[in-house]
Amino acid sequence: MTNTVAITPYNKKLVRATFWMVEPKADEAAEIFYTKLFEMSPELRPLFKGNMRDQGKRMMEMLSTVVKGLNTLDVLAPLVRSMGRRHVNYGIKTEHYNMAAAALMYSLKEELQENWNEEVESAWLEVYQTVSDIMQSA
Ligand code: HEM
Repeated sequence: MTNTVAITPYNKKLVRATFWMVEPKADEAAEIFYTKLFEMSPELRPLFKGNMRDQGKRMMEMLSTVVKGLNTLDVLAPLVRSMGRRHVNYGIKTEHYNMAAAALMYSLKEELQENWNEEVESAWLEVYQTVSDIMQSA
């Protein structure tokens, strides 16, 4: 049903290894992410109604849940789908997912510095795409 098996073991390994480097700086990573997102797409700013620091924490916690569950994403799928349904209510459209992908890649790159490369980027894009697909399949 979902294409979670399509994530290669090597990409899972890269995403796990790099996420652990970013996690201690999760607040900073979230701040870079939202700053970049609103710089690229200011029209998205009004869709966020709450405190952005709290929002950043929720977003990073969800990423952590996904990264920990990479081998069993099917188990997480119902949770991810209900999150996808809530995003429809927030006014999130298909094209917004690509904007967030670009901002996330930027933020990871800033945090990872010399540990960032094209291989790491494509591994993260594969994971992001998979999660976005599940969210949007709801
Ligand atoms: C992998 C993709 C994404 C993940 C893991 C994610 C994660 C989250 C989480 C955990 C929340 C907290 C509330 C909830 O669970 O419903 C949330 C809320 C929200 N997200 Fe996302 N999100 C993703 C994609 C996006 C995209 C693409 C956008 C738009 C650019 C977006 C905009 C929002 C907005 C507007 C809220 C509500 C904030 C508020 O109430 O102030 N999200 N997101």
